[in-house]
Amino acid sequence: MIFFEPHKRDKTLLPHNPWTAMIAPRPIGWISTRNASGAVNIAPYSYFNAVSAMPPCVMFSSDGWKDTLTFADETREFVWNMATYDLAAQMNETSANLARGHSEFEHAALETAPCKIVSVPRVARSPVAFECKVTDIVRLKTADGKPIDNTVVFGEVVGIHLDERYVKNGVVDTAAMKPLARLGYRDYSWVEKTFAMDRPKD
Ligand SMILES: Cc1cc2nc3c(=O)[nH]c(=O)nc-3n(C[C@H](O)[C@H](O)[C@H](O)COP(=O)(O)O)c2cc1C
Repeated sequence: MIFFEPHKRDKTLLPHNPWTAMIAPRPIGWISTRNASGAVNIAPYSYFNAVSAMPPCVMFSSDGWKDTLTFADETREFVWNMATYDLAAQMNETSANLARGHSEFEHAALETAPCKIVSVPRVARSPVAFECKVTDIVRLKTADGKPIDNTVVFGEVVGIHLDERYVKNGVVDTAAMKPLARLGYRDYSWVEKTFAMDRPKD
């Protein structure tokens, strides 16, 4: 077993930062937003997760002050779209660094669909989309209190779009949707095998 402090790894053993390869799989927050003047934006965020169930809340973390964060801060709305194996190439295209005003939806040839509660469009082909309202925007800091360049956006899920083709016998067939997951380096995976376990009885 090797031990290292994050900023002092042995670069002959680990020339590339192994950080995200050790927290895997990560769900992908494929986040669409709209700014006050109506420009739309979509980009993937693998620092993303659900953080509560009732009410359901999610978060994503921006490394630097990116358009998604700017737009979500402006309108206090965003949409999480499920990235699937079938949409992997298009998800990746939406991470391109485009000039403000150039829509990643058009760049990735992604059809949009309207939302019901928020003004942000969703990805028509995503089997699940969450309409979210921003609750908190939190700048992260180090253990000794120095602000760092990462900002977390929390949102409450106020509406859920679910493709009913994936509902079987009253349950959502997650594996059938092939949700995409981020690993480290250039690697991805998708959910295909599942198994069930009961919680221990008290
Ligand atoms: C799979 C994947 C996951 C990503 N995760 C993040 C992330 O968690 N945080 C981040 O700041 N950038 C992340 N990026 C990079 C952003 O998607 C990229 O910087 C994008 O251009 C940001 O777009 P925006 O400025 O329109 O928000 C990720 C890229 C990919 C392909």
